[in-house]
Amino acid sequence: MDHIEKLIRDIPKAELHCHIEGTLEPELMFELASRNKIKLPFANPDEIRRAYAFTNLQSFLDIYYQGADVLRTEQDFYDLTWAYLNRAREDNICHTEIFFDPQTHTQRNISFATALNGIHHALEDARKKLNISSHLILCFLRHLSEEDAFTVFKQALPFKEKIIAVGLDSGEAGNPPEKFKRVFDAARSEGFLTVAHAGEEGPANYIWQALELLEASRIDHGVRCTEDEALVTLLKEKQIPLTVCPLSNIKLCVFKTMHDHNIKKLLEKGLCITINSDDPAYFGGYITENYLACHRAFKLTTDDIVQLAKNSINASFLDNEQKTTYLNRINQVVNTL
Ligand code: HPA
Ligand code: ZN
Repeated sequence: MDHIEKLIRDIPKAELHCHIEGTLEPELMFELASRNKIKLPFANPDEIRRAYAFTNLQSFLDIYYQGADVLRTEQDFYDLTWAYLNRAREDNICHTEIFFDPQTHTQRNISFATALNGIHHALEDARKKLNISSHLILCFLRHLSEEDAFTVFKQALPFKEKIIAVGLDSGEAGNPPEKFKRVFDAARSEGFLTVAHAGEEGPANYIWQALELLEASRIDHGVRCTEDEALVTLLKEKQIPLTVCPLSNIKLCVFKTMHDHNIKKLLEKGLCITINSDDPAYFGGYITENYLACHRAFKLTTDDIVQLAKNSINASFLDNEQKTTYLNRINQVVNTL
């Protein structure tokens, strides 16, 4: 292992773009299917993995929503989240801000509380036993109506203290941020922060909308910002973070190969870029593999890695004191190199 690979593994880092439903490994999918007496259309985990050949975002979403069907009880959501958090510990993730998609579950008559409580308990246990801090972000499914988003938003209000922000995910093309302006207004007036997936498959204009209409603090993906120079300038000047997910972008054919990815260019331009795993069980790698894939393609330097890790802390929703603690820990690791 060269010294950059060791640094990538060892450096404390935050993960800011990870869908908890996207951490469902095929082995756990089988275990939960068996526990809940569900018949999967696959014979074994390897067969599931072979089905993960995606051509675009929608081809992934179809199989991803199908996979989530094995999640039925609070214990299932706990086990899913606990497995991710243990994997995160191995990667030296010190803080994670995970997404969950309540509508994927409420649509199947699984209550909001079942999903929320299972996830939340695992996050609390990780704080105590794994030394990982966390926040939870509720994502609205953008292929559904704004009225549907309002329904889930109302269900979330009794759990408000356990959710830091609302976000927007699922099929982007044809579902612009403006479709959700009123529900995001309502969320902000209840004290939620906001983020949104934008500029993954959708145009740069959707990133503008996420910033101006939804007042997003961060843009999830955002890689198509380069289609609008004024937007790139704004992202740089305001240091609005982009939560980039390199392996996801390759798996979903946003870029043909890692060499074609624009992450290194964005970093060189001085944007606040972070590296994240998105749906690691589906895209072939957790956060370390995402850093390593970028390193292999672009020969990242020590300074690049330190910058990316520090960006992840600065772009988080931690308070300044917590950020300082983690930034100091990064400096300690770098000083022992
Ligand atoms: N984009 C949109 N929706 C999603 C994604 C993504 O990358 N992952 C899970 N839901
Ligand atoms: Zn995502």
